Amino acid sequence: MKIKSICCIGAGYVGGPTMAVIAKKCPEIKVTVVDINEARIAAWNDKNMDNIPVYEPGLGEVVAEARGRNLFFSTDVDRAIDEADMVFISVNTPTKTYGEGKGQAADLKWIELCARQIARVATTDKIVVEKSTLPVRTASTLKSILDHTGSGVNFQILSNPEFLAEGTAVEDLFAPDRVLIGGGQTEDGKRAIQALVDIYAHWVPKDRILTTNVWSSELSKLTANAFLAQRVSSINALSELCEFTEADINEVSRAIGTDSRIGPKFLKASVGFGGSCFQKDILNLVYISRSYGLNEVADYWEQVIIMNDHQKRRFAKKIIKNLYNTVSGKKITFLGWAFKKDTNDTRESAAIYVADLLLYEQAHISVYDPKVKAEQVYADMDYLNSRSSDENRKYVEIVKDPYEAAKGAHAIALMTEWDEFKTYDWQRIYDNMLKPAHVFDGRNILDKQKLRDIGFQVHAIGSANE
Ligand code: UDX
Ligand code: UDX
Repeated sequence: MKIKSICCIGAGYVGGPTMAVIAKKCPEIKVTVVDINEARIAAWNDKNMDNIPVYEPGLGEVVAEARGRNLFFSTDVDRAIDEADMVFISVNTPTKTYGEGKGQAADLKWIELCARQIARVATTDKIVVEKSTLPVRTASTLKSILDHTGSGVNFQILSNPEFLAEGTAVEDLFAPDRVLIGGGQTEDGKRAIQALVDIYAHWVPKDRILTTNVWSSELSKLTANAFLAQRVSSINALSELCEFTEADINEVSRAIGTDSRIGPKFLKASVGFGGSCFQKDILNLVYISRSYGLNEVADYWEQVIIMNDHQKRRFAKKIIKNLYNTVSGKKITFLGWAFKKDTNDTRESAAIYVADLLLYEQAHISVYDPKVKAEQVYADMDYLNSRSSDENRKYVEIVKDPYEAAKGAHAIALMTEWDEFKTYDWQRIYDNMLKPAHVFDGRNILDKQKLRDIGFQVHAIGSANE
């Protein structure tokens, strides 16, 4: 079976870049990305590539090449579904904020709505691909909804989780470590798997395209994120011990990372992991495990989250303690708000939680981030619901120039590892600040000695203070 037309529901951080790359690599396939958010679709269609809604290095070029040729962004969801041989579902699946499983289970409301819409609109056979990260066994829910439409249309369901990391999405999509495709083990199921393999085979070597049953594929995505997050929590747990023992976490990371069984990646101590996936997916794993009565399994993974929450809180406390146990009325400058560098995404960013704890102590916060817009910072603070949005606007200011942001501050808190922070004129920043001037490096990227020579009091994650 040869796919001629693809529709992707959800033009977000996953759907947008993934479809842009498929369209670039498969010029003979028509790829339409649809979304209910009109503003988002308009932004994807913007002539100026600086205005597309997702910031990713290299993405503008890919979109510019394929858009209008075989890549289209639209709000006409019904039409795109009907036209397509293959429909990707890439809508968000946030943690539930209400009812049973609140705070842990994935909210599958939008996934179900997508399935119902596909069922309602489809007049020809379709392969439906789960791109969103979903709890294991979601495919059976999808199948049940799709098969009960009575329209006689045949649906095959595949799981094809996306492993791209934000900030390196285009690079990851061009040269993935692997592509994972799970599907039914019947003849029809195997044909559907092959149709998707053929798409990726346009640019991914065959031995990197893994095929499994649907359940293994669904669970592998949760597992991959849980393992990655666990490494960050493990190194962060040790970072606290380093601060008491004069061991240095960077040296420890380097020493253990050279063991080929451990490997060097994902061993950077930080103020805590963020992003739309790690916390959500682990909570999901915890919830599923508990629902099968597997309490030890659930507790084991839950500890990764507990450690991460502790790391964020510990960072805020470190700031307060070093500013003589009070930050009331003091200005603290945040360098970075995104959850990692090279993205404008702020979901679950550690900065949000650290800011919240400092505001609770009546600090004033001034934020500079190279790619995050002011409205987003306020939306993140308002979402926490800890204080009124007027208060958030009164005590948090967003500044477009880092030197301006540091003026009159007692401390700098470096929250995101943007490369540009390393190239700043730190003497000038120091001159603008109140003394003693503190730097709290939540990412361990600055040259501690250089800052100390200027006169800063430097506090980095995972090493003892001066
Ligand atoms: C999301 C999930 O967070 C992740 O678990 C999954 O692996 C992929 O999808 P992301 O692309 O980063 O990741 O989410 P987001 O940027 O929020 O994009 C989702 C889009 O779906 C939004 O633009 C939203 O408007 C759209 N959407 C949502 C629909 O078009 N229809 C719906 O019914 C719901
Ligand atoms: C992650 C997975 O890596 C990706 O495969 C999956 O598809 C989606 O979830 P992402 O959330 O985009 O990707 O970013 P990632 O690079 O994994 O970073 C997650 C968080 O961990 C960030 O806040 C990052 O700063 C933090 N981190 C990462 C550390 O604190 N230390 C590290 O060593 C690595």
